[in-house]
Amino acid sequence: MTLTETGLSERALERRLKRHMRKENHTFFVSCPPGFESFLETELRRIGAPGVTENIKGGITFSGSLDWIYKVNLQSAVAGRMLLRIGTFTCKSYPELFSKSQRLDWELVLGRNPTFSFNVSATESRLHHTDNIAKAMGDGILDYYSQWPDQKIEIADKSDLTVFVRFQDDVCTVSLDTTGEHLHKRGYKPFSVEAPLRENLAAGLLIWAEAEKFPVIVDPFCGSGTFLFESVRKTSGPFPGENRTYGFEKAAFFRDADLKRIQKSIPKPEEVTQVAYGSDVAAKAIDAARKNAAQAKVDTRIRFELADAVELKNSWPSPGLIISNPPYGKRIGPVSDAEAVLGRFFHRLYTDFPGWTWCIVVPEETRFPWKTLRELKFNNGGLWVKAVIGKIPG
Ligand SMILES: C[S@@+](CC[C@H](N)C(=O)[O-])C[C@H]1O[C@@H](n2cnc3c(N)ncnc32)[C@H](O)[C@@H]1O
Repeated sequence: MTLTETGLSERALERRLKRHMRKENHTFFVSCPPGFESFLETELRRIGAPGVTENIKGGITFSGSLDWIYKVNLQSAVAGRMLLRIGTFTCKSYPELFSKSQRLDWELVLGRNPTFSFNVSATESRLHHTDNIAKAMGDGILDYYSQWPDQKIEIADKSDLTVFVRFQDDVCTVSLDTTGEHLHKRGYKPFSVEAPLRENLAAGLLIWAEAEKFPVIVDPFCGSGTFLFESVRKTSGPFPGENRTYGFEKAAFFRDADLKRIQKSIPKPEEVTQVAYGSDVAAKAIDAARKNAAQAKVDTRIRFELADAVELKNSWPSPGLIISNPPYGKRIGPVSDAEAVLGRFFHRLYTDFPGWTWCIVVPEETRFPWKTLRELKFNNGGLWVKAVIGKIPG
């Protein structure tokens, strides 16, 4: 780098950002629950993300301009987090890590006088002690910034600006987190119940079940209503400041004008004509679901009722989709109770819901006596489960 000034002024930084960040393409990694990569890919294509280059376990890699940071964080329902790649290098010792860390252009992501933190993980690598990795890289960054005597650096345990460091087989991948709090935290569902399904899992399952094509969507074990929220809210928000903030707001390259331009360009979700109905046997759950619906301004689009799923009545004119995450024995109550409820519930479905499709999340070992169409295994809060799709003869 050529140094023309002794300090890192706002103008000097902007000049460098213009040259190295704003006009360039960058590599991004968007994470998702393992097994949900193809749903994330479908969604990224729908959002218009350019050239998905790699679909790897737990996420998708693609390249594009900085605008994609805003577009994906604001619109993806399946993503967990979006990382901007800063550098990748092989590294087998701490001195090597220190010196290779000094070679990255940190001011282009961390900016002036940064306070930031590290998130480190290491597998199958000579360097595996996460605190020592953070210390060596932190020292490298301090040394890098020492070229500007006016700059103060603070490395915190937790901060809104986080550098992700991943060691795998002695290859160190360094990224900036652009997301902040995990994307499943939508910011519009403050009231929760026991064992809620993560929003990005629900969003992925809705894509998998092709929920959009059904005129009615019903969750008879709705809890706080995650499936129904995800099906009616879809994309376009929440925007920063509306209900949550994002990591990118603290990055060196962030410009409010860029964010506003992107927000304006995001198409409004189409008018939802699908009927959404949720019920639960617990008054607490229905209360939470209704409050969430009011807060998210979707209370006119989802009907919530206190009802026992085993008594669900079919009052809809045409067949739809029943999508649900009923209680599992392992998580809530004894197995026998959960199984008995599920058995009676399915008896109800096969009696009164001809032509309907069902998508149910159950413990991995569950066997169905009815014909099923597709299965998808995934991890739900540490427990291996599967979603199963079936169709009731019409
Ligand atoms: C695993 S939780 C569902 C969580 C929900 N997917 C969410 O994200 O909040 C299961 C729900 O089933 C409800 N439940 C249990 N037995 C029921 C029954 N017989 N009829 C209706 N709901 C029932 C529980 O009250 C609980 O809210």
